[in-house]
Amino acid sequence: MSARPLDVPSWIRDRVAGRTALVTGGAGFIGSHLVDGLLAAGIARVHVADDLSLGRRENVAAALERPEVRLTVVDCAEDGALAEAIGGERYDLCFNLAVIPLPHSLVDPAANVNRNVAMTTAVCELGRAGRFDRLVQFSSSEVYGTAQRAPMDETHPLRAHTPYAAAKAATDLVASSYATTFGLEVVTVRPFNTYGERQNDAAYAGLIPAVIGRVRSGAPIEIHGDGLQTRDMTHVDDTVLGTLAIASTDAALGLTLNLGSGREASVTEMVGLLLEALGVPEHPVEHVEARPGDVRRLLADTSLAERVAGYRPTVSLRDGLARTVSWYASAAAPTR
Ligand SMILES: NC(=O)c1ccc[n+]([C@@H]2O[C@H](COP(=O)([O-])OP(=O)(O)OC[C@H]3O[C@@H](n4cnc5c(N)ncnc54)[C@H](O)[C@@H]3O)[C@@H](O)[C@H]2O)c1
Repeated sequence: MSARPLDVPSWIRDRVAGRTALVTGGAGFIGSHLVDGLLAAGIARVHVADDLSLGRRENVAAALERPEVRLTVVDCAEDGALAEAIGGERYDLCFNLAVIPLPHSLVDPAANVNRNVAMTTAVCELGRAGRFDRLVQFSSSEVYGTAQRAPMDETHPLRAHTPYAAAKAATDLVASSYATTFGLEVVTVRPFNTYGERQNDAAYAGLIPAVIGRVRSGAPIEIHGDGLQTRDMTHVDDTVLGTLAIASTDAALGLTLNLGSGREASVTEMVGLLLEALGVPEHPVEHVEARPGDVRRLLADTSLAERVAGYRPTVSLRDGLARTVSWYASAAAPTR
């Protein structure tokens, strides 16, 4: 299930080459692209820790063929399990991506909050015990809730709508508290909606894989609510390059940095572009009940990430969707 190789700038390669990393949630969508990005940057050793609840071994199959990469199937929310899984190893970097997704928090909010917070606390404890030097914590634009002003910079108030979003905000605070109290090196990346090849298309699928799945099966597309809610859609290559740049920049330590495209698209617009890319512009669309807690508007201001780490997204929504569609249509994509 490989995607195209990432072109990592040389200044990032100079900082990543020969180093070691632990990646929680590394068999998931963004995590598996990050593992590929780390390999493209010359990392010496990567340990993926994932319970495969939503991630897939196939996402990292190509990476696992290389001796630098190891996968341990572990529930990071279980007390002591992550520490046991890494044994006596230590790493330069830890990228913390493991998460139980937003739609799960609409059906089992307590478990979603408790387990998501437990995973980050377990990671921070490893950092406190000196098992890695630098934590790159994955936040989410969901912590902001609907835009009170746009574009949204990192000083935007945190008005999390869903229990998932509140758990993400809580985990950001847990991570930064370990920096303040125990001196852990922490930088927080805050991606807006990320899409691309290998995005989970099974349980709790995001909009793009869900639409592709419905077109494949001949079912009408479901848009929750009026479809005028907007998202800042970022291709996963931009998210990964931004993350690598931020992880490689000492001046980013202690900061939270948005990663987005700086462009806004409504759900209706995205579905239209996607249907065009799929070559079925007339496919039927149905409006169904709005999702509880659905955010109305998201638009990123990424000027801080640009100033601090040189982040500049390059993949247009049209190109990114075309690449995504052709990947799902290829033999590389799962067939379920
Ligand atoms: N995809 C997006 O649009 C987006 C936007 C903003 C932020 N993020 C953040 O980026 C990170 C990665 O998201 P993603 O879209 O790749 O999600 P994903 O579901 O594809 O990946 C999450 C991974 O975590 C693993 N996981 C879940 N529970 C676990 C547990 N108890 N122990 C070990 N592993 C566990 C899953 O198996 C999966 O592989 C998350 O922290 C998410 O909050 C994602």
